[in-house]
Amino acid sequence: MAKKSVTDLQVEGKKVIVRVDFNVPHKGEEITDDNRIRAALPTINYLADHHAKVILLSHLGKVDHKDPEKCEKDKAKNDMSIVGKRLQELVPNHKVTFVNATRGEALENAVNAMAEGDIVLMQNTRYEKGESKNDPELGAYWASLADLYVSDAFGSVHRAHASTVGIPTHLPSAVGFLIEKELKYLGTALDDPKHPFVAVLGGAKVSDKIGVIENLLKIADKVIVGGGMAYTFYKAKGWNVGTSLLEEDKVEVAKSFLDKAGDKLVLPVDTVVANDFDNPTDVKTVDANAIPDGYMGLDIGPKTIAYFKEQLSGAKTVFWNGPMGVFEKPEFAKGTIGVCEAIANLDDCMSIIGGGDSASAAKNLGYADKFTHISTGGGASLEYMEGKELPGIAIIEEK
Ligand code: 3PG
Repeated sequence: MAKKSVTDLQVEGKKVIVRVDFNVPHKGEEITDDNRIRAALPTINYLADHHAKVILLSHLGKVDHKDPEKCEKDKAKNDMSIVGKRLQELVPNHKVTFVNATRGEALENAVNAMAEGDIVLMQNTRYEKGESKNDPELGAYWASLADLYVSDAFGSVHRAHASTVGIPTHLPSAVGFLIEKELKYLGTALDDPKHPFVAVLGGAKVSDKIGVIENLLKIADKVIVGGGMAYTFYKAKGWNVGTSLLEEDKVEVAKSFLDKAGDKLVLPVDTVVANDFDNPTDVKTVDANAIPDGYMGLDIGPKTIAYFKEQLSGAKTVFWNGPMGVFEKPEFAKGTIGVCEAIANLDDCMSIIGGGDSASAAKNLGYADKFTHISTGGGASLEYMEGKELPGIAIIEEK
């Protein structure tokens, strides 16, 4: 059954509280990528254009409530007012009021003063200690500000927090257009993919990807594993990994995947190694089973790029999450670039990037438009592809 959509709600004249994911990267007051704000605009504009009073809430960064000094610093660093300014530029036809509060008179007065079509954005939800604990009192308080709840924070629906799960236990609820779009693409890849379906998984840690590797081995035709986590698989094969990233406690899991998956699981055949991470004075490419002592693998090699391209050729569905190497450093970025290009150039293929670093890589390389869908949720899209129930989606009413 499908979730209720924002278009199923009677919103005219109503106060609608909308959980968005405005957790945008920023340097001081400068938002370095406003994609997450833009991604929420269809829902925000729909509501405001349909004469709703739109109350927005989101987290921004992390706030450590255990250490009072750190807490104040985190709050100063993650002040939502910068998003308020950007949002007003992006929705010039509606009045955006930023309220520097997450509860109390200032917030309530601002909400009561709203005209139809107005937008109020409250301060960072994580200023509240109870947000991440799904404090029932906090969820009930935020719900008391509105008549209806809309979730459009795909990037946060894997979190059972007061703003994602607490509020909709008290109000009629629906999902917004961004969540509908995310579920359309990710849901098709998970439940009804066109074959061949090739998953490409990279990144540093096997421990972050165990669930998704396990589930995708059941669904996909090939699961390509690159990035730092490949070295734990090499170790499981009995190969030397030098000083490469290694999760000793995950070698057994990697072994069990290799035993079960056979040639469905595709590993790099060569690797770019260096003698030092910070100051690499000796960089060379070696076969996967020949990493010398004292060297660490930092990217996939040219033979692997060609091999992965071959594995990808003809794919009708691709899900990619995680870089193939330390792509922030140009000398170790070729693998990620090669894989990104290979996927971007596939014809007639539903290509999905599962957020995070791979999404930034595709954007920086100018390939963003060549992917069918770039998810706005890194953690959320991975948990979704693991087949897990996402609490912020589960709580929303069915049609
Ligand atoms: C993200 O950036 O993945 C989401 O906004 C969730 O953020 P979090 O990991 O801090 O909960």
